[in-house]
Amino acid sequence: MAASPFDLTGKAALITGGNTGIGLAIARGLAEAGALVAIADRNADNAGSALASVAKACEANNSRAISLIADVTDTTAVVAMVDATLKDFGRIDILVNNAGISLSGPPEKMPLEDWQTVIDVNLTAPFVCAQAVHPAMKRQGGGKIINIASVLANLATGNAPNYAASKGGVLQLTRSLAIAWAPDNIQVNVILPGWIDTDLTKRAREARPELHDRILARVPAARWGTPEDLAGVAVFLASRASDFVTGAAHTVDGGFTAMG
Ligand code: NAI
Repeated sequence: MAASPFDLTGKAALITGGNTGIGLAIARGLAEAGALVAIADRNADNAGSALASVAKACEANNSRAISLIADVTDTTAVVAMVDATLKDFGRIDILVNNAGISLSGPPEKMPLEDWQTVIDVNLTAPFVCAQAVHPAMKRQGGGKIINIASVLANLATGNAPNYAASKGGVLQLTRSLAIAWAPDNIQVNVILPGWIDTDLTKRAREARPELHDRILARVPAARWGTPEDLAGVAVFLASRASDFVTGAAHTVDGGFTAMG
């Protein structure tokens, strides 16, 4: 039987911010598709349980998972993270730039530090991580870079200028890298999640209790997304099924953006 076009057997993946939420669900999805998976996060919080759940997803495929600590705003740590993945798996085929944060507030009151911190984590770090994996992917003859932006790359609210600007920047970074590295057979794509039930949005819902129902009323699918809703599109973008797909944005939002 011919292998599935989504088969990731023998491919090595690195996911930043992989200990919780969307990153963890994507890590499990890639593992279920056969990949060797490195999950990296800024500290050891949840690292044990995250590694156990990704390792379990690897079992069916004779694959395996490792856990790394790396703050993606620390360039030295990013280089060490990529080196550790290469050392353990011997290759790196898939990078998922997932680590992200939100520090919201109205623009007129936002401390410059909150602006800069969000830009550093959400926009500069994906650039630095992409730069760090490029030599290995080029040497191997190809690779897949998957950036996690947000529907706020295209839409905006009045309360998150730093977040929206960072995610809009990731969209343009994706297109730029896709063009630059197409000759190296590296496909670079971006996923734009809508409202997903994770720690990140839990904090926003605690701060603004009306948010939960307001979003529900605006999502045609009539539910919040789950982290697992992002796994399938990530597997597609990591696999040979997407070899002619690059520089493209993939919205996963239950119809939120289509509703206008
Ligand atoms: P989360 O807060 O549940 O998980 C984010 C993970 O990133 C955490 O494990 C955290 O420790 C890690 N992280 C944060 N800063 C880091 C750093 N400097 N270095 C390394 N790791 C770091 O968030 P969630 O919701 O899973 O978000 C994942 C990505 O999806 C983010 O880029 C976020 O902006 C994006 N997103 C999330 C949406 C949602 O509704 N939850 C919607 C649209 C986009």
